[in-house]
Amino acid sequence: MARPLLTVILAAGKGTRMRSALPKVLHRIAGRSMLGHVLALANGVGGDKLAVVVGPGMDAVRTDALAAAPGADVFVQENQLGTADAVLAAREAIASHRGDLLVLFADTPLITAETVKALLGELERGASIAVLGFEARDPGAYGRLLTAEDGTLVAIREAKDATEAERAVRLCNSGVMAFRLDEPLAVLDEIGNANAKGEYYLTDAVELVRKRGGRGAVVVCDEDEVLGVNSRRELAKAEAIWQRRARNKVMDEGVTLIAPDTVWLSFDTVIGRDVVVEPNVFFGPGVSVDECAEIKANSYFEGARIGEGARIGPFARLRPGAVLGRDVHVGNFVEVKNVAMADGAKANHLSYLGDGTVGAKANIGAGTIFCNYDGFFKHKTEIGAGAFVGSNSSLVAPLKIGAGAYIGSGSVITKDVAADALALERSDQDVRPGWAEKFRTMMARRKAAAGK
Ligand code: UD1
Ligand code: CA
Repeated sequence: MARPLLTVILAAGKGTRMRSALPKVLHRIAGRSMLGHVLALANGVGGDKLAVVVGPGMDAVRTDALAAAPGADVFVQENQLGTADAVLAAREAIASHRGDLLVLFADTPLITAETVKALLGELERGASIAVLGFEARDPGAYGRLLTAEDGTLVAIREAKDATEAERAVRLCNSGVMAFRLDEPLAVLDEIGNANAKGEYYLTDAVELVRKRGGRGAVVVCDEDEVLGVNSRRELAKAEAIWQRRARNKVMDEGVTLIAPDTVWLSFDTVIGRDVVVEPNVFFGPGVSVDECAEIKANSYFEGARIGEGARIGPFARLRPGAVLGRDVHVGNFVEVKNVAMADGAKANHLSYLGDGTVGAKANIGAGTIFCNYDGFFKHKTEIGAGAFVGSNSSLVAPLKIGAGAYIGSGSVITKDVAADALALERSDQDVRPGWAEKFRTMMARRKAAAGK
């Protein structure tokens, strides 16, 4: 039986190498903060309690944490005295918890739930401390995992404190670890700072647990999974790894990506089976696409719902509140914001539809603009089912166009139009027979005279 789990997320890092006004862990991967990813991970492994450790003055981090995990306790680590000191900032949460303890890092956002579950599985198999390790391409400054012949974890040696032989070890510490201890605080409080950095090392817990008769275990994962983000370059690398995984996942679920490397997904993108996504498409946060829709090249979406069988793009832009029903067509250079388009509605070319509704099978002609903003307020445009809006119409909101109505091309419509009516706004056409030919003859003569 799994015991109750308290997850402590270390999010205090200032991340000076990011060169940013934003705390490091609030930088985003796939539209969600790194902290948000790690909170979701904690949730995904079935944690019962969450503690987030932030640095002094990091109110933005506190706010982000509580928005994603309202039940979390947030603690401040006043001085950065090392990873053990950081965990002890959550002393109150640890003291009141009876069960396992998991330590995650908010700047290590790519770890999967499966990996953490494997780590917790080691506790189930009797380990008192389980550490997530990886074979480093370049072990550099990482802590080295020192193991016995039988694979049990004996100690973690920080690079600065290691002997040459220990530094030759390539199995490294990711930082992530899990504990099953009767008195975790007794172990954490025993950690000292007599080492090369003068820091309280969480890694010292391994030897202390062993001294008390506990067993240490290692779970090895891929190095990509434990990539720590300390710079913008590493942030981009993490984004690339995340995107690769997400693209593979949607393809495995039955989505065709013609050029996967050019499709950008967000943490919450949902795409149904048999959707085909052409090259160069960006899915911002909050987008879902139902089965069999076609997403044509060079489209940009955020906060939008795309119905089954819809045909979107190329070069379409869907903004928050675009809710498109079945078989809706939104074509090139069409922007839709906060508009619900019912089944079969079409806006195929060069339009702005903002704030309103479009009824089933209505047709919005090329160049139609919903004039939704008067400089102070936004207003709604409501178009009934089966209405036909002629090309290059300006629809000045607030406005209602009834079902089945026709709007003549080039009209500026400012008053409501009844169902099945025709509304048009244009001046009478003035036709002058033969005018063009006379004009050309006259001008040609003038030009010849001037050329002498
Ligand atoms: C730590 C590990 C090392 C491991 C490496 C993986 C220790 C002693 N060493 O080393 O074995 O290979 O991570 O990246 O744990 N933090 C705080 N408060 C502090 C100190 C650190 O919140 O007082 C946070 C940092 O923001 C960071 C994480 O803990 O997110 C790791 O700290 P860092 O100083 O980068 O540790 P390393 O020296 O890299
Ligand atoms: Ca006109």
